[in-house]
Amino acid sequence: MKRNAWSLIVGGCMLAAVAACSKSEPLAPELKQAMEARHEGFEAIGDAMKKIADTLKAGGSLNPELAAAAATIKQHSGELVDWFPAGTGPESGRKTEAKAEIWQQPEVFAEKREAFVAEAAKLAALADANDAEGFAGQVKNLGGTCKGCHDDFRAKDK
Ligand code: HEC
Repeated sequence: MKRNAWSLIVGGCMLAAVAACSKSEPLAPELKQAMEARHEGFEAIGDAMKKIADTLKAGGSLNPELAAAAATIKQHSGELVDWFPAGTGPESGRKTEAKAEIWQQPEVFAEKREAFVAEAAKLAALADANDAEGFAGQVKNLGGTCKGCHDDFRAKDK
């Protein structure tokens, strides 16, 4: 027997958070996955960035731990392109700070992403070259690309 659409909706609702259920249709599994990957990826990027910034602020400099953090950011920067499939914005009914403008201005969003990817690669390259001074300077350039995207495309940035 085929399950009808209604039973899928009801089943989805039972799995979804109760509060979200009345407002939203169940989200396709691949969209849910993209939103989860995005959340976890940005958390990892944020943690790595904080580790680097805190160490430099405290008077430290490039060390293996910071080089690993830079590699983590570079790795996730390459994944960002898959984190925003259509349907994962505010209209998803899920908790997200992704603004609708991401899908309305895809070229601008892609530019911001590419700037981030390029600066993240430079930071990792400076770490590989063991260039502590260059590394410290590049952290600011990289941080600028986070802000550059968040200012336009992330709601309620803290
Ligand atoms: C091309 C755009 C873009 C770039 C570049 C970018 N971000 Fe984001 N970031 C976003 C968007 C959009 C969100 C909101 C995602 C959501 O809530 O679904 C976000 C969310 C986050 C979050 C919250 C994640 C969560 O789900 O709790 C952190 C932390 C974060 N970004 C850190 C950074 C850092 C650090 C950088 C730079 C090293 C960076 N981001 C670069 C667009 C970007």
